[in-house]
Parts: sequence; structure tokens; C-alpha cells
Amino acid sequence: MTWLSDLGATSPVVAAPMAGGPTTPALVRGAAGAGSLAFLAGGYLSAEALGEQLASVGVVTGPYGVNLFAPNPVPLEPVAYAAYRELIRAEAERYDVSLPLEPVADDDAWQDKVDVLLEHPAPVVSFTFGIPGAPARAALRSAGCLLVQTVTSVEEAREASEAGFDGLVVQASAAGGHSGTLTPSAIPADRPLSDLVAGVRAAVDLPVLGAGGIGSRDDVHAVVAAGAEGAVVGTLLLLADEAGTSETHRAGLLDHTRETAVMRAWTGRPARGLRNAFSDAYDASAPSGYPALHHLTRPIRRAAAAAGDVERVNLWAGTGFRAARRAPVAEILRGLA
Ligand SMILES: Cc1cc2nc3c(=O)[nH]c(=O)nc-3n(C[C@H](O)[C@H](O)[C@H](O)COP(=O)(O)O)c2cc1C
Repeated sequence: MTWLSDLGATSPVVAAPMAGGPTTPALVRGAAGAGSLAFLAGGYLSAEALGEQLASVGVVTGPYGVNLFAPNPVPLEPVAYAAYRELIRAEAERYDVSLPLEPVADDDAWQDKVDVLLEHPAPVVSFTFGIPGAPARAALRSAGCLLVQTVTSVEEAREASEAGFDGLVVQASAAGGHSGTLTPSAIPADRPLSDLVAGVRAAVDLPVLGAGGIGSRDDVHAVVAAGAEGAVVGTLLLLADEAGTSETHRAGLLDHTRETAVMRAWTGRPARGLRNAFSDAYDASAPSGYPALHHLTRPIRRAAAAAGDVERVNLWAGTGFRAARRAPVAEILRGLA
């Protein structure tokens, strides 16, 4: 466990970044207090909000990191966008919300957030969705940040290794939320986490953290036995007292009759979540297109979450969601280490 312990972590269990609400500074503080490396989720936040969250965890005694979405857009033809918009229009009418007429493009305020991190460097900065360009990597490294890349295959691990990262998060398809895949127009292969970790370790000489589907202490043990320095958990923390998970999302997670699937119905990028009426109705017709579909479905997701409508909100969850429970984050993490 050298790499994690050098950072000051005493546990092999890492708290994943979870953008969109679940990760809060309190969750990171609680996890770091339990000896875990814990990540703030910079995705979707404004640069200003990221700065505030950094200031809020700046007082933690444990190790922490920040995760960013590195730009890797999937462009979408206006005709395909319009067809999907038309398909889901009835859901918008149900909540009397309007959907963007044209595909919205943005880069999640990438450069502004890098600038915030250059001013307030976190010990670790991790990236998902894409590999950031060399200038951003060089600047963050000179600011003192260790750089970690999320990969979902041996080929992506090689690509990241050639770009000179300090470590990898190897994410299996079992993981909740968006896949970090570098080729988001394809659905990532469904390879078991331990198998993927072993494959990556055989191919590249970098410290690896394994993510995806961890539900128990035995799962942590298995990923470490496969060659990872630690196991990253996300879904298991979604019901933690300190998590900002919405009540609607929590209700979905507590319904153990549900099943997960990898879907692009919500954002146009593969993501694992609980199946519900919306994903069952539209996922088969959803085109690849990120962030256009993210912006398209957002008004529906917001309205449905506020109304407690579990059938019309994205319920991100990994395959281990039935093991998630309500407790302080430190208790959940200690039970796994
Ligand atoms: C609600 C939710 C939001 C997530 N947001 C992010 C994110 O912002 N950045 C990221 O790199 N990974 C994100 N992930 C993926 C996690 O980092 C991690 O890979 C995953 O949770 C591990 O699998 P598990 O959910 O089965 O534990 C998210 C996962 C969930 C469940």
C-alpha cells in the first residue's frame, strides 16, 4: 500500500468522487478522518464553487484529492438531437419544463477549474472522461499535485502511462455513474474488476486503484489481491449521512428489487444506474452525444427529483448498490477496510 500510505492514507479503501450532489466536503472530511484518501467531485461545479469546497476541506487532517471531467465531447448531429428531444417531449410536458432547442456544448469550465487548482493545489488531482492536455498536466504537476487518470481498459491504461501519470483508477463496467471511458461512443466491455486490474498491472508499471461494484470487505480483498493498492467505493457511500444524495435517489437505492444497467438515455455518455420507467422507455433510442443529452434531460431530472419521482430521474448506482446502508461515512469505510 505504498503509494496510498505515502499520501498519508491508513486505509486501502478510497472514497470516489461523485459529482451532481452526492460528494460533499463533509463526506470528504469524514472519509479522510477514517484514514481514506477521499475525492472532491469538481464535475458540474462552477470554478467558484470548487474553490469554496476546496477551502472547506482544506482543514482536513487526512489526504484528499479533486476530480475533474477532462474535455472529451461526443458531438451530436442536430437532426439526431431533435429526434431524441421529440421522443422525450412528453416527459417534459408532464413537468411543464422546456428543453433546449439546440444541442448545448460546454467544457465544464475546464480551464477555470484548472486555474483554481493551480492557486489551491490539492495533493491529488484525478481526471475522468478524457486525458488532459500536456500543458495542464505540466502546470498541475509543477504546482505539486499528483496526477491520476481513470481508465477502463488495458489500452487506455497504456495511453495514460505514456502520458506520464502518477497512478491510475482502473474502473470496471460494474461501477456506478458515468464510465470514464476515453471512447464514449462505445459501451465499455463488461470485464470483472479483478481481471481488469490484473490485466492493467501486467501491462503498465503504475500504482492502480480498482473501482466498480465493490460491496464488501471480500471485494476489497479481491481487488487488492489482483494487484491494486486500494479499492475505490462510490455507490456504497451514496446513503452515508454526509452524502448530498437527493431523497429521490436514496429512495431508488433502497428499492432492492431494481436492477442496474449501463445506459446513455440521460446524458449521451455510458453510465450505470438503476433502470426505471425513463431508461426503459428511451435508452434503446438514445444517441451518443455528450454533453448535449446531459443538458437536454436536465430540466426533467431536476423537476422529477424535486417531485420525488423515482421513475424520471437518473439513479446512478453500481452493481453493489444493495450493500449500501445509512450510516456515518467513517463507519461505512471502517467496515470495509
Ligand atoms: C452518483 C455517482 C457520481 C459519480 N461521479 C463521478 C465523478 O464526478 N467523477 C468520477 O471520476 N467518477 C464518478 N463516479 C464514479 C466513481 O468515481 C467510481 O468509479 C464508482 O463509483 C465506483 O464504482 P461503485 O459505484 O460500484 O463503487 C460517480 C459514481 C456515482 C455512483
